[in-house]
Amino acid sequence: MQIIILENAQQVASNAAQWVAEVIKQKTNPVLGLATGSTPISLYKLLVEKHQQAQLSFENVTTFNLDEYHNIEAENAQSYRTFMKENLFDHVNIDQEKTYLPTCRSDQNPRVQGLAYEEQIKNAGGVDLQILGIGANGHIGFNEPTSSLASRTRIKTLTKQTLQDNSRLFKKDEYQPTMAMTMGIATILDARYVLLMATGKNKAAAVKQMITGPVTAMCPASALQMHENAIILIDKDAASELT
Ligand code: F6R
Repeated sequence: MQIIILENAQQVASNAAQWVAEVIKQKTNPVLGLATGSTPISLYKLLVEKHQQAQLSFENVTTFNLDEYHNIEAENAQSYRTFMKENLFDHVNIDQEKTYLPTCRSDQNPRVQGLAYEEQIKNAGGVDLQILGIGANGHIGFNEPTSSLASRTRIKTLTKQTLQDNSRLFKKDEYQPTMAMTMGIATILDARYVLLMATGKNKAAAVKQMITGPVTAMCPASALQMHENAIILIDKDAASELT
């Protein structure tokens, strides 16, 4: 693990943007793994800026998102497809046919859909750089504590804490999905590079567990200790419990 502690969230975003830009420029057909949530929003903003300043082309980029709510329409305001369109896809020259999310409707078999997603990743040549956030409970993707370290893309029920953490994004009477399709921990570990971003004091305990704790399914992010090219970008607040 390469741990980089930066002054603030903005520096974390700009450092992450440099890594992403580097991969896009170096590879002929770059494959990015993407995350949603609050943390990567400023990274996506910077990537859009780089694109607008003609410094970065997404023409040959393929993307695979970590997760998507189960049985949600792509057009739904709460879908991760909508999030990605609003924050990145609609503002860069990416071919949206090459942007994938692990979707699964209720009339489909999640196991078949999970395997199909794994196959799509493989056919694209694997993920070059996977962007990750971390949950306050140490989750990565929607691999909640107790998720198998050998897990692959599948359906997961979200924990109470994650539902609570994400409830800020839903209006008072709006339906909040309780299940999601997510890449597994082993799927994430297959990426050539993994870039985890964490900012803020509410991530400090999870960051400490991930870096200094044992490798355990109780803290899914601790699996990154086993990855040869895991870059952990954190601000001072997220690093505040590291001794
Ligand atoms: C998002 C995802 C989640 C988030 C995590 C942190 O696609 O898979 O694991 O990265 O919940 O979310 P934020 O950044 O909102 O704190």
